[in-house]
Amino acid sequence: MAVLKLQKYGSPVLREKAMPVSKVDNEVRELVENMIETMYAEGGVGLAAPQVGVSKKIIVIDIEEKGVIVLINPVIIKREGETKEEEGCLSVPGVYSTVRRSSTITVEALDLDENKIRITQEGFLAIALQHEIDHLEGYLFIDRLSPAKRLMIKDQLKEIV
Ligand code: NI
Repeated sequence: MAVLKLQKYGSPVLREKAMPVSKVDNEVRELVENMIETMYAEGGVGLAAPQVGVSKKIIVIDIEEKGVIVLINPVIIKREGETKEEEGCLSVPGVYSTVRRSSTITVEALDLDENKIRITQEGFLAIALQHEIDHLEGYLFIDRLSPAKRLMIKDQLKEIV
């Protein structure tokens, strides 16, 4: 296993729409292992493949000792309610801001055995899923801030680039 280099704000790969994974092979499994190691090494609770420079639809999440969730080609198929919590991102170091998200979501994806799975989550896990799935579409949490909040973090963003 290896800790991979994190892509930070300003890196073009973070703005790409990631490609679906066509086959969960050893290469994908190795990437997932390295993503998990990188997430732990950097002290994050979630990571998307574009954050380590790989434009593929893969996310890993580990919140509150519930164990690691690995989702391949995740798609949000249902959203309910609304919530607002402070978010941060390993790719946008030092920036934290409150983001409006759906409070409950249902996601369809493949697991590491290529089985189709469907999970419904609420709370922090729902927020983390939306945050990581956003990465696969080329979005960062700062894109979801109001214009006033974006203005407040403008200088911090300049320091990252
Ligand atoms: Ni992030």
